[in-house]
Amino acid sequence: MATEKTLNDLFIDTLKDIYFAERQIARALPKMARAAQSEELKAAFQKHKEETEGQIERLQQVFELVGKPARGKTCEAIQGIIAEGEEIIEEYKGTAAIDAGLISSAQAVEHYEIARYGTLKAWAQKLGMQEAVDLLDATLQEESATDEALTQLAEASVNDKGQKAA
Ligand SMILES: [Fe+2]
Ligand SMILES: [Fe+2]
Repeated sequence: MATEKTLNDLFIDTLKDIYFAERQIARALPKMARAAQSEELKAAFQKHKEETEGQIERLQQVFELVGKPARGKTCEAIQGIIAEGEEIIEEYKGTAAIDAGLISSAQAVEHYEIARYGTLKAWAQKLGMQEAVDLLDATLQEESATDEALTQLAEASVNDKGQKAA
């Protein structure tokens, strides 16, 4: 009979999933910044790239707290979301709709992260790991703020521009 898995195992597996995802995101964001047309969107992607580096460090601290080496585990969900974003870049590069497309794929990334960090934070709470809760919550706040900033950029101009050119 297989050994019984615990919530702690699930927590560590999910930590590996998001650790893998964050490193993929850190590689994708500069490409998104290059493809963006508006200076505001470029700046938003660059800012979030910096934040993502800090988030990777926070995850390394959480791995330390649970006494495990920081190691990623292939996350097919984020690979799929990033692949869709690359497709948008290929198909819409240089068009008036590129920024709207980039924002839509960036928001898919943020929503994935918000789901993962929300879960991890709740599990850390259940497992009585207050330090981990604080680290995960700090990242969760950044992901939510990024999501909101992207919505504002979309509403302010990007979607309008895409429409005018259509
Ligand atoms: Fe992130
Ligand atoms: Fe993010």
